[in-house]
Amino acid sequence: MTTSRRTLMTAAAAAGLAATAVATGTGTAYAKDGGRAVKEHFGTLADGTKVDRWTIRNGRTRLSVLSYGGIVQSLEIPDRHGHLANVSLGFADLDSYVAGSPYFGALIGRYGNRIANGRFTLDGHAYQLPVNDGPNSLHGGDKGFDKRVWSVEPFERAGNVGLTLRRVSPDGEMGYPGKLTVRVDYTLTPTGDFRIDYEATTDKATVVNLTNHTYYNLGGEGTGSVYDHRLEIAASRYTPVNKTLIPTGELAKVAGTPFDFRRPKAIGRDIREAHQQVLYGQGFDHNFVLDKGITSRPEHIATVGDPESGRVMRIATTEPGVQFYSGNFLVGTLAGTSGKVYRQGDGFCLETQHFPDSPNQPGFPSTVLRPGQTYRSTTVHSFSTR
Ligand code: BGC
Repeated sequence: MTTSRRTLMTAAAAAGLAATAVATGTGTAYAKDGGRAVKEHFGTLADGTKVDRWTIRNGRTRLSVLSYGGIVQSLEIPDRHGHLANVSLGFADLDSYVAGSPYFGALIGRYGNRIANGRFTLDGHAYQLPVNDGPNSLHGGDKGFDKRVWSVEPFERAGNVGLTLRRVSPDGEMGYPGKLTVRVDYTLTPTGDFRIDYEATTDKATVVNLTNHTYYNLGGEGTGSVYDHRLEIAASRYTPVNKTLIPTGELAKVAGTPFDFRRPKAIGRDIREAHQQVLYGQGFDHNFVLDKGITSRPEHIATVGDPESGRVMRIATTEPGVQFYSGNFLVGTLAGTSGKVYRQGDGFCLETQHFPDSPNQPGFPSTVLRPGQTYRSTTVHSFSTR
């Protein structure tokens, strides 16, 4: 992309993208009448596929999403003084995402988190998935949904501004059975909430567990540690793991452990406790069993607040679990969007989901999807300040 085109788009976005279409060298800069969606060229993959970056805004929230991986590349929200900052970790260019991203902002599929030894059995058939994390399969295998190009279309309805992402995952992709037809809506509501709706259907029995892997730093990406952020999770139990981070099957009580976030607690407070589970995760990297269980409508499950900026994020979901990951494997080897190096604990993820390794855990809520059924999942992130 040329500098002038980037400048043009940025200026257009800043101007609120009123009524005019904005022309660029690639011809598709997009600003429908009264619309608030802008498309720009972000980069080109080695096979020649062009990748777009879409930017939408509503209220004071501004969201940029890539057609590659459905990646949340930037999410800007105001602090208590009204100053905007990008609170999601990521990169400024496509090559960095392709070269090796720890799933920054990405859509995760077909299966969020780990499946033990990349194996499961469904209706008597054994399936082998690619193993890409020690002995296990993580986040859908080595070329999961985070590395695929999605079709993206903007929409506006009833004050909501959003993007619909679509992709058909062929039967057998990454070892998973069934042709999976997937739709994900990223919506900014009139109050600037960020809502994600997932939908999927299949032509053969399969397993599905979709999520989004945004790393947040409510102080702004690249501003350092999130250990002072105060986190509350409405979960009385969590799923302890073995040393390869596969759940043991137990639903252990959080009471009296570093995993007790039932009242707001600084993320860093107990992160150096010599608890076996903290050692296995090198910090927090665990699925919390949400007290509300599976719900047909999103219900509140977590609040995170940054005392410094005053930014607060509340999360509601239909899912029964959330993977709280405290950015343990950010080790100073990646420079983020604003050019600052990310170090351990510089971001956190709250990945709403079904539990890891459910296909091998009869006691966990089922992740099986059959022909004729529709997989649905919704998560809403609401932003405010204090
Ligand atoms: C996993 C972590 C992993 C991270 C990035 C999280 O969902 O639980 O173990 O390192 O994603 O891949």
